[in-house]
Amino acid sequence: MAVHVVLNQKGGVGKSTLTMNLAAVKAHALTGDADVESPVAAISVDPQGSAVWWADRVEGSGNELPFKIAQAHDNPKILSQLHKLPGISHVYVDTPGWIDFSSNGDSADSLGAGASGDALRAVLSIADLVIVPIEPEPLCFDPTARTIKKVIEPLGKKFVVVINNWDPRDGKVDLEQTRAFVDAHGWPLARTVVRHYKVHTRAAADGRVVTEYDANRVSLQAREDFYKLSLELEAGGH
Ligand SMILES: Nc1ncnc2c1ncn2[C@@H]1O[C@H](COP(=O)(O)OP(=O)(O)O)[C@@H](O)[C@H]1O
Ligand SMILES: [Mg+2]
Repeated sequence: MAVHVVLNQKGGVGKSTLTMNLAAVKAHALTGDADVESPVAAISVDPQGSAVWWADRVEGSGNELPFKIAQAHDNPKILSQLHKLPGISHVYVDTPGWIDFSSNGDSADSLGAGASGDALRAVLSIADLVIVPIEPEPLCFDPTARTIKKVIEPLGKKFVVVINNWDPRDGKVDLEQTRAFVDAHGWPLARTVVRHYKVHTRAAADGRVVTEYDANRVSLQAREDFYKLSLELEAGGH
């Protein structure tokens, strides 16, 4: 049983994209094309529910979601039991697009006293691994550092930073700068970089997850990053 929580205070770094596609790849690896109950679940604690919107698009376009999905941002009791879901061996948790860390001293910690703080504390309490997506651009650095230093490290959670949305056409300068930033802090960094592909950007609106892309050369390259990342996370080398 493994619970992965995808977390970064910054919006738009790829939390929902990683959640949905890592769940899809894991489900594909575990069940193939067999018509069996999926042992994989994606859970959204993002009140805006973009993962669930995406899932609805998948089913609405006649594709099948290869994993189970549930919206559960307002039920911390259930959220702290995600590692005990019957029939589920892998859980991927999508977290809010943007998190406002509390700056006042009243609440328990920087996640704040509100419902979304409670939801995040609940899922983090049972997380086996926190996945921290970062984009290769300096705007992401401060929010990523705050997420790790104010939330993940104080809780003593195992985590890994994953560079997402790198466009090879932009050259390697930003990529190397991002790697250097992560290394300078001594944070574990996934070797796999998830590259930028239009097919990923369009996937939600198109109603597909990564395992359902067309089998053309570019889409297969785009898929490959998620299969590699999933294998790397499974191996736990970071
Ligand atoms: N590797 C990628 N390639 C192309 N587009 C991406 C990639 N990762 C994320 N995106 C796009 O960037 C936007 C933000 O991603 P999203 O997963 O919604 O971020 P978050 O959940 O952190 O707010 C979305 O439009 C998504 O499709
Ligand atoms: Mg999101």
